[in-house]
Amino acid sequence: MRRLEGKSALVTGAARGIGLAFARAYAAEGALVAIGDIDVARAEASAAAIGAGAYAVRLDVTDQGSIDRAMGQVEAQAGGLDILVNNAGVFDMAPIVEITRESYRRVFDINVAGTLFTLQAGAKSMIARGRGGKIINMASQAGRRGEPLVAVYCASKAAIISLTQSAGLNLIRHGINVNAISPGVVEGEHWDGVDALFARYENRPLGEKKRLVGEEVPFGRMGTAEDLVGMAVFLASADSDYVVAQTYNVDGGNWMS
Ligand SMILES: NC(=O)c1ccc[n+]([C@@H]2O[C@H](COP(=O)([O-])OP(=O)(O)OC[C@H]3O[C@@H](n4cnc5c(N)ncnc54)[C@H](O)[C@@H]3O)[C@@H](O)[C@H]2O)c1
Repeated sequence: MRRLEGKSALVTGAARGIGLAFARAYAAEGALVAIGDIDVARAEASAAAIGAGAYAVRLDVTDQGSIDRAMGQVEAQAGGLDILVNNAGVFDMAPIVEITRESYRRVFDINVAGTLFTLQAGAKSMIARGRGGKIINMASQAGRRGEPLVAVYCASKAAIISLTQSAGLNLIRHGINVNAISPGVVEGEHWDGVDALFARYENRPLGEKKRLVGEEVPFGRMGTAEDLVGMAVFLASADSDYVVAQTYNVDGGNWMS
């Protein structure tokens, strides 16, 4: 028996990277998965590659109208929403004295407000249907402690851990479990961008930061999106019904809490 048979899922930012790996795994477990992304062309290509278990949805998590339309599309296509993953997120970095309001607004708009108001719309939809649901937020080891060059992103991920606690406590009365996954360093286009920024701010050759952070992981290498899939399926399935308001580290041993 597949663990998510007949479930309807929406994964934000799933056109590529971690979200796409989750979408693939949910479809393999029997769910019908909406790939919500601002990059619609790539979301459509990713949904087509998965096949009948996935479809693309245009979604900008910074735009309330876009969130509401995407939720309406999921309800129309799948009859409701059982699983929501708030995965869309962006990174930026700068020394404290160089942080701009523009960078702060972009990171907080997507990572924090995007997660909160997509979570809110998903919760409203789940409450109206009366069957409970699973909401999974993407935190980060960056949310566990500050970093000298990464103040804004770290603060945005600390906010995700806090929002997960509040929403988890508020929504469990409706049978909605809210939990979060806290990855460490994960291979992919996101970390290629992070590496390029470290190259600029720490005056390193491209690729060096990536190699160093991989060597520092107790497991012995950077993570892959597939390393996170087991936790993502667990938190979306009935196996996690008694798990409420938690943030789980899936980071090869980088952080203990
Ligand atoms: N890669 C890592 O090392 C790592 C580590 C810890 C946490 N995370 C978090 O995991 C999540 C996914 O990371 P990833 O590595 O797959 O990133 P990624 O950059 O590969 O993918 C992010 C996706 O989000 C989409 N997106 C951006 N803005 C959006 C918006 N306004 N509305 C909808 N979609 C939008 C992008 O188009 C992209 O498809 C993020 O929240 C990230 O912060 C990543």
